[in-house]
Amino acid sequence: MAFTLIPAEGSDFINRKELLSEMVSTLSNSKLHMGFALYGVRRVGKTSILKETSRQLSKHKMIVPIYFSLWSLVENTVEEFAKKLTITIIDAYSGQIGFTHKAKNLFEASLALLKELLQSLSISLKLREEIEIILTMHPSEKDDAGLIIERVFSLAEAFAQETKTRCILLLDEFPSLMELKKDNNQIGEGAIKLIRTLHETQKHTLLCISGSIKKTMEITAFHPGSAFYKQFINRKIEPLEKQHIKELLIWNLKKEVPEAVIEKVWNFTRGIPFYAQAIGRQLEGMNKINVEIVNRAIKSFLTQEGAIFFQEQFSQLSSKERKILDAMAKFDLISTSEIAMQINESSTTVNRFLLYLEEKGVLDKVDKGKFQFQDPVFKQWLQQQN
Ligand SMILES: Nc1ncnc2c1ncn2[C@@H]1O[C@H](COP(=O)(O)OP(=O)(O)OP(=O)(O)O)[C@@H](O)[C@H]1O
Ligand SMILES: [Mg+2]
Repeated sequence: MAFTLIPAEGSDFINRKELLSEMVSTLSNSKLHMGFALYGVRRVGKTSILKETSRQLSKHKMIVPIYFSLWSLVENTVEEFAKKLTITIIDAYSGQIGFTHKAKNLFEASLALLKELLQSLSISLKLREEIEIILTMHPSEKDDAGLIIERVFSLAEAFAQETKTRCILLLDEFPSLMELKKDNNQIGEGAIKLIRTLHETQKHTLLCISGSIKKTMEITAFHPGSAFYKQFINRKIEPLEKQHIKELLIWNLKKEVPEAVIEKVWNFTRGIPFYAQAIGRQLEGMNKINVEIVNRAIKSFLTQEGAIFFQEQFSQLSSKERKILDAMAKFDLISTSEIAMQINESSTTVNRFLLYLEEKGVLDKVDKGKFQFQDPVFKQWLQQQN
């Protein structure tokens, strides 16, 4: 029960009760076959929601939730994706089929040992074959990215069917699949379309996905014409409200917190729980907490952690993009014409770069020709830079 920078679960999970109960009741209702697509800005709490949903679903005997983050991929190849997801699926079901080994080791086992291990399990021939096929794919099949993906999803379905459970695959940062590669070729779009087809046909497996960049989520799920259009219940994850930031602080500090302090933390974080956790951490163990102390914590966060979180993100942008953001932060500008005037560029040029920044998930379009920072703390960090 202390402030944490890792996803929040259980009693550390503040608010979002309605969404959580909607997700848990929908996903556990055997008459419904609808997954969820969650969209929300960076650090707003998407992973926490998926993990808390998974934790609550795992209490249902007939449901096996499986959390998998696309950000766990290092090489972004279809082979790596298939292997890691296969391991996660087998590990999730190992209790159900009485398998006592770590799935990771199966990939290293000899064929003879593998057969022996699988023989020792009281599972149907069909499931045994599914597992064996995926672990010992023939070299010629390894060239076929579609087949590789299909095998993993059929494995989840086969496990669910065999154990008479519903398998709920919670795929975090799903749009990162767009970057999936096979032999150095991008195959992401095809992979997403294929997963959609598989998802449509599978009866025992349900997908839930999340993503932080609006544009890529639109391409994946929200726009008519996108692969998963109408296959999911779409939910936008908003920052926490002020009362929940208060709850988060009091719960973790285990004492009353002056209203002025709550106001200060709220103003700085704008409800993004990650920043409330990070500031809260610095207040732990202090006898008296006042606004001055919070101001110091904020300053220290911006200079220390800010350098880690934002410096790299900022340096990866083009010089024009950096110039625009800098002007927007320092002069509190939101409209194309004001920015254009400030940096001495044409509105057309500025508008083009504003749209790039929207695509990259740095800015949000709030109105015609008006943009704002997605992350209020990033803006405050920029304001502090010389
Ligand atoms: N409901 C919540 N209650 C308390 N803390 C939360 C809640 N949701 C998120 N947090 C905290 O906020 C931080 C970010 O949470 P999380 O990793 O779930 O967000 P995210 O949207 O998945 O972030 P990212 O964009 O980096 O993937 C973590 O420190 C987590 O503990
Ligand atoms: Mg996350």
